[in-house]
Amino acid sequence: MQQEDKFIQATNLIADANHLLVFTGAGVSHESGIPVFRGKNGLWQKYRPEELATPDAFRKAPRVVWDWYRYRRALIRKANPNPAHIVIAELERIKSTFLLVTQNVDGLHRVAGNKKLVELHGNIFYTKCTACDNCIYEYEGENWSDLPYCECGALMRPAVVWFGEPLPEAALTQAFEFARTADVVLVVGTSGVVYPAAYVPLIVKQHGGKVIEVNIEPSAITPHADIFLQGKAGDVLTHIMKLLTRSK
Ligand code: OAD
Repeated sequence: MQQEDKFIQATNLIADANHLLVFTGAGVSHESGIPVFRGKNGLWQKYRPEELATPDAFRKAPRVVWDWYRYRRALIRKANPNPAHIVIAELERIKSTFLLVTQNVDGLHRVAGNKKLVELHGNIFYTKCTACDNCIYEYEGENWSDLPYCECGALMRPAVVWFGEPLPEAALTQAFEFARTADVVLVVGTSGVVYPAAYVPLIVKQHGGKVIEVNIEPSAITPHADIFLQGKAGDVLTHIMKLLTRSK
């Protein structure tokens, strides 16, 4: 099939969908200047994840882990939503039954205007206590330079999901429940290798829904995709939005 025919088919599926699910990964924020995790320019190549994004690493070297998160917070604070985020926010406005499920912790979907969203891996600007329920949001910049401690005396940590940790149950349940009812899932910029998040598009497929994938290269999702649109998320989604607007 020609690329333009695929675009038209994808647009028609989105236009006709009663329940639209959008599932995103690091690739959607790449054009905002935030490095992805895997691949040629992946973040994980410079910083080994098993040394940084695990509870064990934090127990052994909390300062190193915090330095890495503060570096990423600073990078993300400077970033703005790109055209892909903007189109996904627009999709929420035009589709009455919609859910965005993201693996990203950068919060850029919120900044772009999405409200019906589930952040499966948390949000990098939250800091939580390792002992009690205290959890604070620190978007504007931390006013601490040493390690942060809670009022209860325990060390605070980034409130994101690390390797080997369970996902927040309510978020996962909401994502899976919507996936069972979705007639279309638009998967954008994910390698689809991190579970349980990667079950989301597979559940849609299992329940008879269609999978549209947008990625610069084939991923683990591609064999399950009904339509694979190869290209940068910003370009592909902008083109789809143009076709959607025209077809109204
Ligand atoms: P990855 O880094 O694994 O994958 C990013 C994907 O985005 C790849 O498939 C790229 O080909 C694609 N990509 C890159 N630039 C793109 C662009 N401009 N347009 C479209 N696609 C592009 O990131 P994730 O799949 O999000 O979890 O990784 C999943 C999870 O692994 C993350 O949430 C994180 C990590 O471990 C935790 O930290 C728990």
